[in-house]
Amino acid sequence: MRLDKLLANMGVGSRSEVKKLVKQGRITVDGAIAKDSGMTLDPHTAEVICDGQRIHYRDVIYVMLNKPQGVVSATEDVRDKTVVDLLARDDRVLQPFPVGRLDKDTEGLLLLTNDGQLAHELLSPRKHVPKTYEAIVRGRVGETDIERFAAGVTLDDGYITMPAELTILSVAEAEEAEEAESSIRLTIHEGKFHQVKRMFEAVGKKVTYLKRISMGPLQLDDALPSGRYRHLTDEELALLMKVKGDK
Ligand code: URA
Repeated sequence: MRLDKLLANMGVGSRSEVKKLVKQGRITVDGAIAKDSGMTLDPHTAEVICDGQRIHYRDVIYVMLNKPQGVVSATEDVRDKTVVDLLARDDRVLQPFPVGRLDKDTEGLLLLTNDGQLAHELLSPRKHVPKTYEAIVRGRVGETDIERFAAGVTLDDGYITMPAELTILSVAEAEEAEEAESSIRLTIHEGKFHQVKRMFEAVGKKVTYLKRISMGPLQLDDALPSGRYRHLTDEELALLMKVKGDK
């Protein structure tokens, strides 16, 4: 790989900025000052240093975002801010994309990667990767809803959902049933459009707040504030690679 390509891919600067850095003698490769920004090297073994800082090469990226409300799960959008806009320039260089979608008003766990195969495995309808959400629902969610979700409910388009596990976390009672508010957790094993909201609509209730807390083996990091992201740990990556390997 060319040195200028490696440095540009790692977000050090554009090709012409990198050329300048080389001219100024600020880049060393394996201990020697680089003379030519077009020199070729093995990106996995060469020791490349810019202004005293080691540039580690990687061509894959995996980040966990705590998606805030108001941004769309897309790489570009003419009107709205996208989840990719929340990433630093260095992390955008490798062109990560969101694995699946959360609605604009849904918060929580979103994986962004440029690993198309992993995305494919996590989203494959054959895999039934579990996704867990926490939600606030208008009305009294009760035992009947747990049973109906376990049996499968019929959505507005006639689709019957797969068995889903509903847990009631708390119910804030009110005189009128419609004014009560329930806090729930729901695990689904598929990913139909607006699925959680439509499942509650199917039992006559409305989701007023929705947050995803896990997807497959990946759990949202509690310490990650809304709108912030971090690279996955080696342990998290190993768990995801298992999903990728389980054909
Ligand atoms: N179900 C929904 O209704 N919305 C989401 O964003 C995710 C799951």
